[in-house]
Amino acid sequence: MSRPISAPRGTRDLLPEDGHAWSRVEGIARDLSARYAFDRIETPLFERIELFSRGLGESSDAVEKEMFRVSGAAGSEEERAEWALRPEPTAGIVRAYLEHGMHVRPGPQRLWLIGPMFRYDRPQAGRYRQFVQWDVEVIGDPGPMVDAEIIELGQRFYTESGVRDVVAYLNSIGDGECRPAYRAALIDYFSAHDDRLTDDSRRRLRVNPLRVLDDKELDPELAAGAPRAIDHLCDACRAHFTSVQALLDDLGVHYEIDHRLVRGLDYYTRTTFEFYVAGRRGQQQALGGGGRYDGLAELLGGPSTPGIGFGIGIDRTVIAAEEQGVSSGALALLVAVVAADPDALAPRLRAAGTLRDAGLRVRADGTSRKLGKQLESAAKLGARWAVIVGPTSDGTVILRDLVASEQRELPLSEVAAAIGRG
Ligand code: HAM
Repeated sequence: MSRPISAPRGTRDLLPEDGHAWSRVEGIARDLSARYAFDRIETPLFERIELFSRGLGESSDAVEKEMFRVSGAAGSEEERAEWALRPEPTAGIVRAYLEHGMHVRPGPQRLWLIGPMFRYDRPQAGRYRQFVQWDVEVIGDPGPMVDAEIIELGQRFYTESGVRDVVAYLNSIGDGECRPAYRAALIDYFSAHDDRLTDDSRRRLRVNPLRVLDDKELDPELAAGAPRAIDHLCDACRAHFTSVQALLDDLGVHYEIDHRLVRGLDYYTRTTFEFYVAGRRGQQQALGGGGRYDGLAELLGGPSTPGIGFGIGIDRTVIAAEEQGVSSGALALLVAVVAADPDALAPRLRAAGTLRDAGLRVRADGTSRKLGKQLESAAKLGARWAVIVGPTSDGTVILRDLVASEQRELPLSEVAAAIGRG
C-alpha cells in the first residue's frame, strides 16, 4: 500500500464539525456587507507578481518573503513564474477598479469579498499559508466619515459574532506631504541607536524606516522614545485624523491610539488600524486590520484615487469565538425519511422532496436495512423526527418522535405543521 497523502503544511481542512461555526461567521460578514450597501466583487486568486511588488512594496514581508509563485504548464511561454497567489485582495481589487474604469460609475465604489489568501509564512497557531479574509473597500471617498464608518463596521462584526473585548488600535501615518519628514526623523533617531537594533531592523531602516516600529523584538525603551507619526502630520492629515477620532467618539467605538501601528504593507497613508482582543497583541493575534491607501491607484498606473478598507481574518475570528465559548447556534431540526419496504425508494425521495419544499432539513435513508436499524441510525445522526413512508401512495405517513418514542399517522402534507407545533 502506498503512503497516505496529507494536506500541505500550513493549510487546514474545514471539517463538518467546524463548518457550522464558519458558516455563522461568514453569514454575519455577508449580511453586514449588504446592510452597509457594499457590492460583491471577485478577483482572480492569482495575479501578476508585479501587481503585488508595486502595490504592497518590494520590502513588505508579503512580497519579499511570503510570495507563493505560480508558473504555467511545462513548455508553455509562462513556464517561468509570472504570477503569485494573492497574499491579500486590496491590490487586485484596485487593479480591477482601474481596469474596468469603475471611477466613472456613480458614487464611491463600496466593494466586498470573502475568499482565500496565501502567504508562504512559517505556520503556527493562528497563522496559516492559506487563510480566509472578509475584505471591504471603499474607493473614491477621501473621508474622514468613511474612515470612522469602516472602523465601526469592523467593531460591529465582532459584536455580532459574539467576540468580546475587541479594541481597534488606531494611528495616522501621514501622506506624501508629511511622511518624508517623519521618515527622516526615524532614520536620525534609530541610526543614533544602531547598536540596539536587530539585524532585521537595521535592514528595515534602510528600505522602509517606518517598519522598524513594527519589529516585535524592538527594545521597548527605544520604541517608547521613538518619534511619533502624529507629531509629524501636516495640517490636512492632522485635521483628518482629529475628525476620525471625533466621529468614533461620537459613535462610542472602542479604540486606542497606538503610535507603533504602521502596518506591514507599503500602500498605507493616513488612517491605519488593527483589531485585537484586549491584552492579546501577539503577532498572529490580529483579528483584522486595514487603513487608507490614497496612493495605491497611482502606484498601479491609474489616476490619483483615495481608498480605504479592511481585511478581517475569518480563521482567527472563528478561533476567538470558540475560545470565548460563543455557541455556533443550533442547526435546524433534522428529519429522517425511512421505509420498511426495501423497494420503496421513489416514495422516500418524493416524501423528502415534499418536506424540503416546506423548508425542513431532511436526510433520506436509501438502504434496505430493517426499519428498526434505520430508525436507530437516524437517531445517531441527530434526527429528532422520522417520517416512515409506506408502499402506498395515498399520502399518509407515520411521524415518529425519536426522542419521546411516540408515533402517529397523518397526511404527509401535515408533517411540517405538526413538527412546527413540537
Ligand atoms: P493584513 O493585516 O495583512 O491586511 O491582513 C488582514 C487580516 O488577515 C489579519 O489581521 C489577520 O486576521 C488575517 N491574516 C493575515 N495573515 C494571516 C495568516 N497567515 N493566517 C491567518 N490569518 C491571517 C491586509 O491583508 C490588507 N489587504 C487589509 C486592507 C484592506 N487594507 C485596506 N484594505
